[in-house]
Amino acid sequence: MTDLTTLETELSARIAAAPDGAALEAVRVEALGKSGAISALLKSLGGMSPDERREQGPRINGLRDRIAAALAERKAALDAAELDARLKAERVDLTLPPPPRRKGAVHPTMQVMDEMVAIFADLGFGVAEGPDIEDDFHNFTALNFPPKHPAREMHDTFFFKPGPDGDRKLLRTHTSPVQVRTMQKTNTPPPAPWIAAGQDPPIRIVVPGRTYRCDSDQTHTPMFHQMEGLVIDRGIHMGHLKWTLQTFISRFFEGEVGARFRPHHFPFTEPSAEMDIQCDRSGGEIKVGQGSDWLEVVGCGMVHPHVLRNCGLDPEVWQGFAFGFGVDRLGMLKYGMPDLRDMFASDTRWLAHYGFSPFVAPNPASGLS
Ligand code: PHE
Repeated sequence: MTDLTTLETELSARIAAAPDGAALEAVRVEALGKSGAISALLKSLGGMSPDERREQGPRINGLRDRIAAALAERKAALDAAELDARLKAERVDLTLPPPPRRKGAVHPTMQVMDEMVAIFADLGFGVAEGPDIEDDFHNFTALNFPPKHPAREMHDTFFFKPGPDGDRKLLRTHTSPVQVRTMQKTNTPPPAPWIAAGQDPPIRIVVPGRTYRCDSDQTHTPMFHQMEGLVIDRGIHMGHLKWTLQTFISRFFEGEVGARFRPHHFPFTEPSAEMDIQCDRSGGEIKVGQGSDWLEVVGCGMVHPHVLRNCGLDPEVWQGFAFGFGVDRLGMLKYGMPDLRDMFASDTRWLAHYGFSPFVAPNPASGLS
């Protein structure tokens, strides 16, 4: 049949000449699409007599196979040519300046800890650290929490499963266990080089670190930061404690800030108090030194004689005071962050906004500069 040969010649020529993928696709639709020429021929087989079909079937099917193969071959050639052209055209220009890179920032909590340590260093305090995973003795017993006493529950402690010896480790609920580690002179060296070793009084330390309690709202997160302070010497009294905290607060906030001491209870101090700082939370932002709201920032008191005795010190000779700051809360107050939970949500937009440059000169008010 001459028209099959003509059709094949014509289609082959158009396939070979198709300049791009779109033109090739147009030829494919015309030939093999639903109402394409070859599709029509295939359909016509149904209306033929068996003899005719026997003769025309292989010819039409052969034509369809050859055209499909030619289409696939041309498509591969066009794709390869297109890739070649792109590789030639698209080039990396190494002389262009690099895209700007986001600089890292110091997390406000770390910034606040550095500021606090600088001020306390100026007041003659050293820094001690302890482990986040503590045992019951250091976190509770040595600090005068009676066994099975509900005060232990007051801290909403995260406990680990008990070990084979029945000992239940826990995530420390406060930095106070480092008081014990510092006062206690033991024969066993500390478990890591950065963990406080026992020292003889006089002692003046601050203890920055992470603490954990099962709690979450606008001013509580399950992990937060405290800075403990401990002073042990002869003749230490509440006046030293109040002066130290008030001096610290006015240096930290770089001005006068209203503060109030409220009587409180901690098993490890007697008497005990909490200090609140005056602030205003009405506008969605916190402003220190204004308004009529108070935010508790530090628990404190005179070290309980039981604690001194538990750590091997004679309360007739040595007295001391201790305090524990909520570091994140101080940061919220100083830098106007309304929700504590944002501080640990790892949102890079928040960090870019509230973070600090690592390259600032040290605070000239501090003795470390
Ligand atoms: N450890 C107490 C707390 O986490 C704070 C504190 C420290 C109180 C030292 C008194 C003395 O709440």
